[in-house]
Amino acid sequence: MRVLVLGKGGREHALAWKLSCSPRAKVVFVAPGNGGTDQPGPGSQAELANVNLDYMDFGSVVAFAKKESIGLVVVGPEDPLAEGIVDALQSEGIRVFGPAKASARLEGSKGFAKEVMRDASIPTAEAKICDHPDIARAFIETREYPLVIKADGLAAGKGVMVCSTKAEAMEAVERIMVREEFGREVGRRVLVERRLMGYELSVLALVSGRTILRLPVCQDHKAVYNDDQGPNTGGMGVFCPADIASPQLLERIDSDILVPTVHEMKRRKCSFKGVLYAGIMITNQGPRVLEFNVRLGDPETQPLLMRLKTDLLDLFEACVDERLAEFEDKVVFDPRPAVAVVATAKGYPGKYLKGDRIDGLEDVAKLDDVMVFHAGTKKEGDRIITDGGRVFAVTALGDDLNLARRKAYDAMEEIRFIGMHYRRDIGARKNQPVVQ
Ligand code: AMP
Ligand code: GLY
Repeated sequence: MRVLVLGKGGREHALAWKLSCSPRAKVVFVAPGNGGTDQPGPGSQAELANVNLDYMDFGSVVAFAKKESIGLVVVGPEDPLAEGIVDALQSEGIRVFGPAKASARLEGSKGFAKEVMRDASIPTAEAKICDHPDIARAFIETREYPLVIKADGLAAGKGVMVCSTKAEAMEAVERIMVREEFGREVGRRVLVERRLMGYELSVLALVSGRTILRLPVCQDHKAVYNDDQGPNTGGMGVFCPADIASPQLLERIDSDILVPTVHEMKRRKCSFKGVLYAGIMITNQGPRVLEFNVRLGDPETQPLLMRLKTDLLDLFEACVDERLAEFEDKVVFDPRPAVAVVATAKGYPGKYLKGDRIDGLEDVAKLDDVMVFHAGTKKEGDRIITDGGRVFAVTALGDDLNLARRKAYDAMEEIRFIGMHYRRDIGARKNQPVVQ
């Protein structure tokens, strides 16, 4: 089969590599891809190629898929899902893995997600949805701190601000709604939300029809600096599995969150198909949803796919064809934990430099159980240079979490570029068990 992966981050590099390991895959195109996505990895059988295509230009994606007889399109990022790429491809008879536009609203509008959660009594942080800055300001006046201000629309993980003072909350409203820093539509509404305390889990599940296949739980590290300091990013590192998620807790997450969400979407006539990703805070009162995403996480995908032993193309096709139940209790993961550490360019998540040479990648490519998934990189001649804020994620498997961490960090030390930054404490967090 000929497969097309849309996206250019570390998630898409991991997807392209894993799909290329399927004996049924002939070629895996990645549009537009990055400096690593056209390179085979351990176990690759299919050819890999980057395609210079803008995935937000749906007409071009459809034309390419037809011209190249693509058997399956896999959509990585949220923006094309929110804009309806699945509907656009399906209406042309092209098979695609991902949710339709109506269900992608779960991620595309935090206000919509809150309404779904309210209607289905899904535990989440109390929030007020405000569609005018004056309403937000008046509400902020009455609140206790800290609280969280969220832009309604997609903002690449940057539209959420935890505010410790009233002045900070007012400034957040200015940035989102008045200065429209994340775009006009994104800032049309804000959510003023109670701040929850606890530890966070990324719970990802494949969903199709009535079947919900939960994947091993990951723990992400969102803040840019060690000890969770500094602004939030799209994710600075992940480990998987997060053992703190006990079987009892997972049962509760299934019954109180995943199942009612899938039912509520069905009730609203927008049945969910694809990856449902719940960002969950484990509080003293139990699990609470912070957000829903409708795609695989980045960097969660990197350790998840390094651990996955089941053929990913088979799994995705089963999901698209509503045969996912065939895989219940049959998806196999390497029992060893994996850790992914993200290297970013100086300045990220703010302004950063591009175009610096990356050295040391060849040495790391020789290591067993270590992979470097590229994100903001590109080829220039025979060199790889930086081309984005999130540059790559070193991902390693180890016999235990500490060994996986050590392997990832030893490999990271072999790689250099000017202004390279990464957190030193991925996987070292000591979660306080919370009272349930
Ligand atoms: P979201 O995009 O809504 O997941 O928010 C991004 C990050 O902001 C989350 O992963 C949390 O670290 C933080 N966050 C969001 N909502 C809350 C909340 N109600 N309380 C505490 N932290 C939050
Ligand atoms: N790692 C967070 C996300 O993918 O949204």
